[in-house]
Amino acid sequence: MCGIVGYIGRREVLPVLVRGLEGLEYRGYDSSGLACFDPEHSRIVAVKEKGKLDQLKARLEGFHHNGCIGIGHTRWATHGAPTRDNAHPHLDASEQFAIVHNGIIENYERLKTDLLRAGTHFKSETDTEVFVHTWGRLARKIRDVREAFRQTVLKCHGRFAFVGMSLKTPDRIFVFRRSNPIVIGAGSGEYFVASDVTALLPYTREVIYLEDDEMAEVLRSEVKFYNVKTGKRMQKKSIRIDWSSEQAQKGGWPHFMIKEIHEQPDVLETALAKRIQKGRIVWDTLSKKAEARLKKIRKIFAVSCGTAFHAGLAGKYMLEEYAKIPVETSVSSEFRYSDPILEKEDMVLLVSQSGETADTLAALHEAKERGAFSLALVNVVGSTLAREADAVIYTHAGPEIGVASTKAYTAQLIHLALFSIYLGKLRGKISNQNLKTLLGHAKKLPAHIRQFLVKGKAKVEECADALSDKPNLIYLGRGYNYPTALEGALKFKEITYKHAHGYAAGEMKHGPIALVDKNLPVVSIAPASKTYEKMMSNIEEVKARDGIIVSIGTRGDEKLRLKSKYFLEIPSVPEIFSCILTVIPLQLLAYQAAVLNGREVDQPRNLAKSVTVE
Ligand code: G6P
Repeated sequence: MCGIVGYIGRREVLPVLVRGLEGLEYRGYDSSGLACFDPEHSRIVAVKEKGKLDQLKARLEGFHHNGCIGIGHTRWATHGAPTRDNAHPHLDASEQFAIVHNGIIENYERLKTDLLRAGTHFKSETDTEVFVHTWGRLARKIRDVREAFRQTVLKCHGRFAFVGMSLKTPDRIFVFRRSNPIVIGAGSGEYFVASDVTALLPYTREVIYLEDDEMAEVLRSEVKFYNVKTGKRMQKKSIRIDWSSEQAQKGGWPHFMIKEIHEQPDVLETALAKRIQKGRIVWDTLSKKAEARLKKIRKIFAVSCGTAFHAGLAGKYMLEEYAKIPVETSVSSEFRYSDPILEKEDMVLLVSQSGETADTLAALHEAKERGAFSLALVNVVGSTLAREADAVIYTHAGPEIGVASTKAYTAQLIHLALFSIYLGKLRGKISNQNLKTLLGHAKKLPAHIRQFLVKGKAKVEECADALSDKPNLIYLGRGYNYPTALEGALKFKEITYKHAHGYAAGEMKHGPIALVDKNLPVVSIAPASKTYEKMMSNIEEVKARDGIIVSIGTRGDEKLRLKSKYFLEIPSVPEIFSCILTVIPLQLLAYQAAVLNGREVDQPRNLAKSVTVE
């Protein structure tokens, strides 16, 4: 939600800010803007525009600027419509202070009332503007820009990140974070600030994450860190990120989403090579202590949002079957307010691509408060969830830029499958032979996906062609593929803007069947499984009502092929791995239908990749 960038160094600042914003546009794309010091005229220059970043770039054409310090923002509106006035940066009345902001200032109305009483004129409807006016007023009063920034932060309630600059201190920028991510990248004689590490990759991989309630004063040659509550200086260490800049670029593909769909075989291969060594499942980030705790876990709560929730739900089936541990699943926003009954022997498993989702972080805090063991399954190394959970497992899917998650999902699934098998072995529920057989099948998954991406593509395209103008779709699945039905429908609606509903197939007769007629496509995920016959009955029920049957089934399943208008086949694998394969055609189907509908595949309307508001 909103992307923030900042730069201080010797480079021409505009291209650096624009490139940074390009790397963050997936976080918000309804308006954007930037501000930089103009050393010649000793002023702050701000340029803002509504709409996508391209609109801002068009406004910047022919605009020359030789400043080397600036801040920028790409917005996902919370307070105030996506207009040019509401776009960030916001400046105070004297135009000597500028701020960009991510998150919500919950008490902004109160602060605004005070400022209005004191005669401040507001130019926008945002909550952000109260910050810059308060900062400017305080700085003039106490004659200390840094201290005024700190005191302004303390006056604001909520979760947010700020990056600000002032003409009174034109050799530095100020940064603050609470719950909304901020990372500082170190170069040589220069520093970069961004909401997400992907925006820093073209310049540096040496990064420092700000923690909650930490503030930084960033100069060309050094960064000074402070605890915002005490105002005391503190030391922080940098870490090295192993992602490359190329990974965060389209590399010739028309969209990030299709590139990321095709990266899945490699992502799985990396995961399997890392996690399976000498016939054993190993975790580089789990300590002996964590292992000892895992051995005694009584119950697991899988908590997450969006696509990651579907992975958690698939994880439930995996963990219950192989580790024999009861699992409850919950979306994070419900879990945190549900007064969950958590014991010390319970584990809360938090699944997240970004590791920054506000509701999932809040769920983690809830779990910690109640003494449960927390394990984060996260993609972004060093993200908040990864740092704050008791233990972390990284999915190593590489940067995912497309808003609709694809490779992060299959990376979560393979990790959950391996983790379930590992726990089963640890707790004596799986024999050596069974382990060997399962790992043998796991290793073949990348090749299966690769093959589908080549051979199955034409069939998916044909099917997308027929479905792309349908206003409603139903997705049905059971067991391991019930989450696939939910995820397939989510993908489709996210990027085509058509209504698609995922359902547990057995529930169809309790409502959705009323929708079935000759215009309704019913996507049935029915590979060989314990519930195959039941799925067949559900498909018959749809057929009897003339529904259009699209099915995902096991290669060679003639019975299913004959029942289906479109049959997409995957190879036979143990059920635990089937959901990793069945989702691939559904990702492609959604992608292709979105392209045919002329949608903004990578930046669907109203959505954001990383949801850092609650
Ligand atoms: C947003 C994204 C989804 C993602 C969800 C959870 O809604 O658009 O793709 O699944 O957030 O994000 P997380 O980073 O926690 O996995």
